[in-house]
Amino acid sequence: MDARNIGLRNIEVADTKICSIDGENGKLIYRGYDILDLVKNSTFEETAYLLLFGDLPDSSQLADFTRRLREARGLPDPLIKALKSRPRRAHPMDVLQSCVSELADYDLNNEDQTKEANVRRAIVLISKVPAIIAAWNRIRNGLHVVDHLDEGSHAANFLYMLRGSEPTSEEAKILDVCLIIHAEHSFNASTFAAREIASTRAHMYASISGAVGALSGELHGGANIQVMKMLLEIGDPSNVDKWVYERLQAGGRIMGMGHAVYRTTDPRADVLSRLSRAISTQKGNKWYEMTRRVEEATKRYFSENKKQAIYPNVDLYSASVYYSMGIPMDLNTPIFAISRVAGWSAHVIEEKFAEAAPKPALYRPKAVYVGKYCGPMGCEYTPMASRNKQSG
Ligand SMILES: CC(C)(COP(=O)(O)OP(=O)(O)OC[C@H]1O[C@@H](n2cnc3c(N)ncnc32)[C@H](O)[C@@H]1OP(=O)(O)O)[C@@H](O)C(=O)NCCC(=O)NCCS
Repeated sequence: MDARNIGLRNIEVADTKICSIDGENGKLIYRGYDILDLVKNSTFEETAYLLLFGDLPDSSQLADFTRRLREARGLPDPLIKALKSRPRRAHPMDVLQSCVSELADYDLNNEDQTKEANVRRAIVLISKVPAIIAAWNRIRNGLHVVDHLDEGSHAANFLYMLRGSEPTSEEAKILDVCLIIHAEHSFNASTFAAREIASTRAHMYASISGAVGALSGELHGGANIQVMKMLLEIGDPSNVDKWVYERLQAGGRIMGMGHAVYRTTDPRADVLSRLSRAISTQKGNKWYEMTRRVEEATKRYFSENKKQAIYPNVDLYSASVYYSMGIPMDLNTPIFAISRVAGWSAHVIEEKFAEAAPKPALYRPKAVYVGKYCGPMGCEYTPMASRNKQSG
């Protein structure tokens, strides 16, 4: 097959009104709005509304949406009980994936496949994903589960449920910005997984739990955990150059660098780099400085040895931001999910209810068969006794 199309690269599979990316110029647009504008002026709640409904809300629409999010935030008691019975070593992404699929059990109307019912499910998922992650982190540390607050932002509520104490307004704002910039990214692997599952007419919970599984991989959402592990292993800014060069010379990858779509800096990396610098300066730690050196060393190695450019992606600087906020490292990818669930659900709804032609259809790509071939009639079945004789 054409190598340019491997991994579905360069293949258009659907129309979407949710997001566009200009990879050459480093622009990311949600429903027509530049994310840099949203970062400056919006909140995660407003951005989630924009993604789900297609337009920015007026004040009463936003108040109603925020109320619905707040009302949906609590977790069913049996789900908390089930969490308490899991081995404490369970990975938060595995826990999240199974809890999302379990939420279907508590949806008394899961047969209702109208658009309104799916929007309601999207709101439930946006609300409950952070509650699940916070609850699991407390349970695995032997702490009691903390109920949400009746006020405060989505970001502030997550930090409160995680720590059991209210975050500062600066911390809540930093997380809010992170949630805005991770909320949507067109047909990335996890979103495509969600849409592919939705195309079979499976329900919202099945689609979103599949997306969580796809996000967990280290070439996708799992990269930010690998970035933090890398920084910890490097240990000191003065070791960065040597470490990066040795890793690349050995054919390894530098996590947080490179992107399948951007041919310049990922605009989200710019925002996160500023946040990382601010928080590292405030805390007096080395993580921003080390990350910046990783970026520079990787770029230098690529230009010297591969004669090609490479740029940071969203995961490079998010790692140090979360670490500096005292968030456990293995929650980096789950935090990505807290935000991306807004984009995933918008895509599931678009997949199921697209109005204009060409409407989405069941995904069924073609593969090029390159396996065993015994002629047009196929291979002759060999009985077990003769196969045993041949191998014996
Ligand atoms: C994200 C990623 C999979 C996109 O890759 P892509 O555009 O499809 O490019 P490829 O994987 O085909 O790589 C192209 C070349 O650049 C190299 N490359 C790309 N990203 C690299 C990285 N982070 N470190 C080292 N080399 C890298 C590849 O080894 C390959 O080199 P080759 O042509 O000599 O074989 C890739 O950049 C990567 O693995 N990055 C690290 C993981 C990561 O940060 N993921 C989060 C993405 S948001």
